[in-house]
Amino acid sequence: MESVAITLFPFLLAIVAICFSFCDANSNVLCIKSERNALLKFKNDLVDPSNRLASWVEGGDCCKWLGVVCHNSTGHINQLHLAAPLSVPHLDAPVTEWEAYHRSKNNSSLRGKINSSLLELKHLSSLDLSNNNFRSNIPKFLGRLGSLTYLNLSHAQFHGGIPHNLGNLSKLQYLDLGGNYLKPKSLQWVSGLSFLQYLDLSYADLRKATDWLLVTFQHPSLLELHLSACSLEDDPSPINVNSIKSLVVLDLSENNFSSVPMSIFGLQGLLSINLSSNSLEGPIPDYFRNISFLEVLDLSGNSLNSSTPKSLFSLNHLQLLNLSSNEINQDVSEILLSLSRCCLDCLESLDMAHNHLFGHLIDQLGHFKNLAHLSLAGNNISGPIPLSIGELSSLKFFDVSENQLNGTFPLCFGQLKSLETLDLGCNQLEGVVSETHFSNLTRLTTLAASQNRLRFQPNSSWILPFQCRIIKLGQWHLGPKFPRWLKFQKNLSVLDMSDAGISDILPTWFLNLSTQFEYLNLSYNQLTGGISHLNVREFVDLTSNRFTGPLPRVFPTLKYLMLSNNSFSGPLFELVCNPLRKGPMECLSIRGNLLSGEIPDCWNHWRGLDYLNLENNNLTGKIPPSLGHLNLSVLNLRNNDMFGELPSTLQFCTSLIILDLSDNHFSGSVPTWIGDKLSKLEILSLRSNIFDGHIPQKICQLQSLRILDLGNNNISGSIPKCFSNLSAMANKSNQNSYMFQWSITRTNLFCMRTLLVLKGRVDEYSTTLGLVTSICLSTNRLVGEIPKELGSLVELQSLNLSRNLLIGNIPDEIGNMELESLDLSMNQLNGKIPSSFSNLNFLNHFNVSYNNLTGQIPTSTQLQSFGNFSYMGNHLYGPPLTKNRSTNRTPTDGANNGSRSEGSNVNWLYVSIVLGFVMGFSGVVAPLFYIRSWRHAYYRKLDHIGRKLYMSWATMGR
Ligand SMILES: *[C@@H]1O[C@H](CO)[C@@H](O)[C@H](O)[C@H]1NC(C)=O
Ligand SMILES: *[C@@H]1O[C@H](CO)[C@@H](O)[C@H](O)[C@H]1NC(C)=O
Ligand SMILES: *[C@@H]1O[C@H](CO)[C@@H](O)[C@H](O)[C@H]1NC(C)=O
Ligand SMILES: *[C@@H]1O[C@H](CO)[C@@H](O)[C@H](O)[C@H]1NC(C)=O
Repeated sequence: MESVAITLFPFLLAIVAICFSFCDANSNVLCIKSERNALLKFKNDLVDPSNRLASWVEGGDCCKWLGVVCHNSTGHINQLHLAAPLSVPHLDAPVTEWEAYHRSKNNSSLRGKINSSLLELKHLSSLDLSNNNFRSNIPKFLGRLGSLTYLNLSHAQFHGGIPHNLGNLSKLQYLDLGGNYLKPKSLQWVSGLSFLQYLDLSYADLRKATDWLLVTFQHPSLLELHLSACSLEDDPSPINVNSIKSLVVLDLSENNFSSVPMSIFGLQGLLSINLSSNSLEGPIPDYFRNISFLEVLDLSGNSLNSSTPKSLFSLNHLQLLNLSSNEINQDVSEILLSLSRCCLDCLESLDMAHNHLFGHLIDQLGHFKNLAHLSLAGNNISGPIPLSIGELSSLKFFDVSENQLNGTFPLCFGQLKSLETLDLGCNQLEGVVSETHFSNLTRLTTLAASQNRLRFQPNSSWILPFQCRIIKLGQWHLGPKFPRWLKFQKNLSVLDMSDAGISDILPTWFLNLSTQFEYLNLSYNQLTGGISHLNVREFVDLTSNRFTGPLPRVFPTLKYLMLSNNSFSGPLFELVCNPLRKGPMECLSIRGNLLSGEIPDCWNHWRGLDYLNLENNNLTGKIPPSLGHLNLSVLNLRNNDMFGELPSTLQFCTSLIILDLSDNHFSGSVPTWIGDKLSKLEILSLRSNIFDGHIPQKICQLQSLRILDLGNNNISGSIPKCFSNLSAMANKSNQNSYMFQWSITRTNLFCMRTLLVLKGRVDEYSTTLGLVTSICLSTNRLVGEIPKELGSLVELQSLNLSRNLLIGNIPDEIGNMELESLDLSMNQLNGKIPSSFSNLNFLNHFNVSYNNLTGQIPTSTQLQSFGNFSYMGNHLYGPPLTKNRSTNRTPTDGANNGSRSEGSNVNWLYVSIVLGFVMGFSGVVAPLFYIRSWRHAYYRKLDHIGRKLYMSWATMGR
């Protein structure tokens, strides 16, 4: 597209390029006094915080002022270039809150009023006020600057309507109002601009301006039209534009079209169409023969399906084809073959990532001489990478990640001297990669090939012949020595060498690399030694190594620190109480280490922390009160040596979804505020502590609770009848799961990893998560009868009330549940096993042993499949018992252990799956986050997966 623009407006662009920041072409002429005064008036009304207009002073030669261009002989002011320099990289789609915020803080942008003294500049042909911060309507008087040929007011925080008298600017050729918050009611005024060639109204809300299509498509001189993100919808009345051939570049991206506006195919002069990020559905229309000069076609980010139409391959000038992030279902070899017939010599960029392409890559791929950008990531393409790839001498960007490509890492990559980005991640490539593969790739900045079965063990003196920013070789075989070839990398920012068979001491030169990492993943190796400090800005994953010594010092901006399953020892004090830490940390996971001492009480500065897992350490002391000031979603302190009552500040953690304090020595009664305040809890485990008192009725308010484990404490009293209110266990749930939302809607890296792992396993996981409902009250001192109300928890899969002092009959209602595991053993229950138990068709664990039950065991598909052991210690008879009556033996230790561990295994299997799910799986997926060009596609895709996951979760009934 840019190339088109350049051919169309050489004179304008040349001027802009020369005068963008400072114009000094006026050495011989003096400026005209009245015009100077006008400029001074204009300056007077502006707020100029960075004093950009410092050269604009009384008495000076205004032709030498910043941004002013005078005519070289008459001295009249010709051009004003007052665009603010951008402090952030300029994106095409800029009006995000984030950018608006930055822009408002951009000190070099002008603010204030635009004085109509500009009308004095009778010869002004070019006015650029873009990127400033005017926060006002577009001033009407601009419509009276009759000499203007160029007007750029883009990204300058204008709002409101567009003054119709802009239509009086009869000489205007270039008008850019994009990136503002404009809401015109009509575009009729555009018809008045009879020399207009370029129009950009992107980000204006054109919902009311229903005449947009009529006015712009039929405009006699308009060459380039940008209406991106204008809330445009399908036009009900297509117009006939056959006779007009002016429009060359058409950008309708980020609107709400559900089908391609048919009028487009009447614009026979079109060279470039951008309809990306709309809601296009169904097949790609087959009318491209009408616009056969097309060079650029971008239909990415829609829901187009079926296969590419024949007429698309009649476009024998096509340079860029982007169909990524659609649902195109076609053999990739068919597409490549067709493209090779129409566009072998012209195609420069092909992006069909994230579709449903299948089949093999063919040799013709190597024949696209000018191909510079090729992405086929995220499809189901299989087979080897063709050797002809080596012939693509222009290739800069090559991404075939996330497919099923097999075979070797072809040596021909070594010929791609222009290559900058190579991504082969998540395929099934095998074999050995050698130094030779890389020897010619001197321009490479991204080398990504994680998740293949590749091996790379270069000569120990070899060093990488290029400076990479991103290296991702997770799951490669790179060990056993730590790769020395990284030693002279100076720009490395992202490094993934997870699960790479490295069994070595982490070298000091690595810790002292001058590079500043954003992302470092060395998880799942056997790295040893201590780590004094980590120079990483955002993400560290060292999970599952053998690091020892104290916790490393970390960079204050770090957001994710994952050190689980190592042998870090000593206190948490230095990490937690470091005064530099101002709160960006979101995820801290140090489970399975040898941390000792107390959890320090200085969490006040950790406001961003969302996930805290210190499970399986040797931590002692009480829960520090300041922990309650965090906005945690997950708190796991399981299996430490902590004690004391739960601090009442914990009730302020109202975002908690998972609270696991099991296997410690916490005491006191179960606080009522858990039910009152922690209303999002889905998993509550206080198992194996010394809690006493009664189960508070308030627990029944936890509408989302799916796992309740109070087992192995000293809890007395009766089982609350109100358990029937635990609606997540009672309803065929279409209710929200906070945990799911948490892991899906967070657009943070950590969750992206989780989700990407889930890709392709959606069903498996949603089923697993569906299984997770359980109540365990085992091994306490609960008395009274089993409330029949429990029977209404029809979504409950596991119920364990064993080893209490429960009496009375087993309620019939229990038999109407859909339990997979039921343990009532070692109580004092009497009466018969209810005949309704024959309905328990999903049971795979059942135990009623050691009660006072009598009578015959009901007959069913399940009850007879359990051994004697499930029934012993009662007065029961009938199959599966071999004798007529079971004897009333006292429980033996052996039997106890069996029963208990089995019961708890069932629960904890579920729980660990859930925790595993929430925690994500280390070392699997690449840090897409840092690759701008991918991010968009991935967010879109994730959103897709997320929605799908959520749907299957929400609608799943068992
Ligand atoms: C003035 O500018 C015109 C084109 O804009 C150029 O042709 C001419 O040579 C210039 N004259 C002087 C004196 O610089
Ligand atoms: C690649 O996979 C296909 C099946 O998908 C198989 O037939 C072929 O042998 C594999 N090639 C290699 C080199 O492993
Ligand atoms: C690297 O370039 C040289 C010179 O062009 C060439 O001879 C060699 O084959 C290339 N290496 C690979 C692996 O292709
Ligand atoms: C952790 O605690 C366990 C049990 O109290 C003890 O055996 C072990 O030595 C402790 N380890 C460390 C490193 O303190």
